[in-house]
Amino acid sequence: MANPAAADAAIPYGTLPPASPPATRKPLSLPRLADMHARGEKIVMLTAYDATFAAVADAAGVECLLVGDSLGMVCQGLNSTVGVSLDTMRYHTESVERGLRRVQGTAWLIADLPFGSYHASREQALHSAAVLMQAGAHMVKLEGGGWTTDTVRFLVERGIPVCAHLGLTPQTVHALGGYRVQGRGGEAAALLKQQAHALQDAGAAMLVLEMVPAALAAELTAELKHCATIGIGAGRGTAGQVLVMHDMLGVGLGKLPKFVRNFMAGAPGIAEAMQAYVRAVKDGSFPDDSLHAW
Ligand code: KIV
Repeated sequence: MANPAAADAAIPYGTLPPASPPATRKPLSLPRLADMHARGEKIVMLTAYDATFAAVADAAGVECLLVGDSLGMVCQGLNSTVGVSLDTMRYHTESVERGLRRVQGTAWLIADLPFGSYHASREQALHSAAVLMQAGAHMVKLEGGGWTTDTVRFLVERGIPVCAHLGLTPQTVHALGGYRVQGRGGEAAALLKQQAHALQDAGAAMLVLEMVPAALAAELTAELKHCATIGIGAGRGTAGQVLVMHDMLGVGLGKLPKFVRNFMAGAPGIAEAMQAYVRAVKDGSFPDDSLHAW
C-alpha cells in the first residue's frame, strides 16, 4: 500500500496538491496535444520562468509551460525582449525543468529562441535550439513568418518540435512601430494566413497568434488542421490560450494589456488563480471577445 506520508512529502509546501496524484497523470506529448487539438479540447499554456511557479502551474493543470523571452521584461526589467540572451533562456529553462522534475510534473515545456539566436542561418538556429532542448525544453518557439519557414523545416526534420509565432512578434517591436494589433485589413490578413499555412506545411506543430483580430484567428484555426493555434489577444476562437504569468496574476511594471484578465481577483491565492485560468480557458469563458479582443 502506498505510504500517504511519502506522498505528502512530495508536495512542495505552500502549494495545493495536484488535482490528481502525479503518478496517475500522463505527461503531455506532441501526440496528446494533437489529439486534444483534433477533439477541440482547449489547450492551456502559461509562461513560467522559475522552478516553484512552474510546479504550481503544473499542479493547477496548465498543460504547456512557455519559458518566454518575456522574462526580459517581467524578470529582468528590460523595455523589450530584444536584450534577452540565449544563455539567459538556458538558465530559466533549466530552472523550470528542475521544478517540473521535483514534483513529477507533466507539462509540455516550450522555450523561446531569443532575438539574434536563429536569424543568421539555419545552422545557428539548430545550435541555439539544441542548447534549449538540452536544458530541458520539449519544443522551441521562434517568431515571424516568411524567412523562418525554411528554419522551421530544418529544425523539425532534425527532430526538434517547433512552435511558430505570428501577429505581434515582440522581438521586432522596433520594426513594427510598437505593440499594435497585426493582420488588420485584407492585405495584412492574407499575408498572415499565407505565412501560417507555410509554417504548418514546414512542420510547426503549434502557432502562437498574438494581437490579431479575433475573426482572423478563428478562420485560421479552422483552416490549420495540423497546427494548433494558441492565442494571446486573438479572441476565443483559437485552439488554446497563453498568457504571461505576471499579467494574469495582476502584477507588472506597466499597464496590463487589454487582452489580460486578472485571475487573482476573487482568488484566495496564486494556485487558485491558476486553476481559475485553466477552468476559464477550458470552458471557453476566457477570453471574452467583447473585452479582450479586436
Ligand atoms: O515571450 C512570451 O512570453 C511569449 C508569449 C507572450 C506568447 O512569446
